[in-house]
Amino acid sequence: MAIEHTLSIIKPDATRRNLTGAINAKFEAAGLRIVAQKRIHLTKAQAETFYGVHKERPFFGGLVTFMTSGPVVAQVLEGEGAVAKNREIMGATDPKKAAAGTIRAEFAEDIEANSVHGSDAADTAAHEIAFFFAGIEIVG
Ligand code: PPS
Repeated sequence: MAIEHTLSIIKPDATRRNLTGAINAKFEAAGLRIVAQKRIHLTKAQAETFYGVHKERPFFGGLVTFMTSGPVVAQVLEGEGAVAKNREIMGATDPKKAAAGTIRAEFAEDIEANSVHGSDAADTAAHEIAFFFAGIEIVG
């Protein structure tokens, strides 16, 4: 399988509970390498742009409010089949449906405060990585 990059975000519910290291340990244990990482506080405009694809969904306003409620850690993860592997490690969107051992099963509070975001496909990953990082910041 090819080496891929995917965009991960550790969300405000997880940074608030000081879970960045515990979540990163799960990525590293699964063979994903953190090749870029920064802690930022998204503005409303930035969150609305990032989640623009969901703007007609009923949860959009709440998601933007939540994602701007505290710092996030944006990261680029590298590894074989990194996009799918990260989705597997994260678990289902709703932590009640997430498989045991996944990040969301262990750490998420609810379907909104679900601790992590991960790109859902290689093309979205490229777009999402470019939203947060310049090429010079990604060091494999
Ligand atoms: S979809 O239909 O596959 O695009 O949806 P999904 O990937 O499950 O969700 C997209 C993002 O919206 C968040 N989400 C929600 N937030 C608040 N309330 C509800 N009900 C809700 N449902 C989905 C979900 O966490 C996803 O955020 P990201 O940051 O992409 O993980």
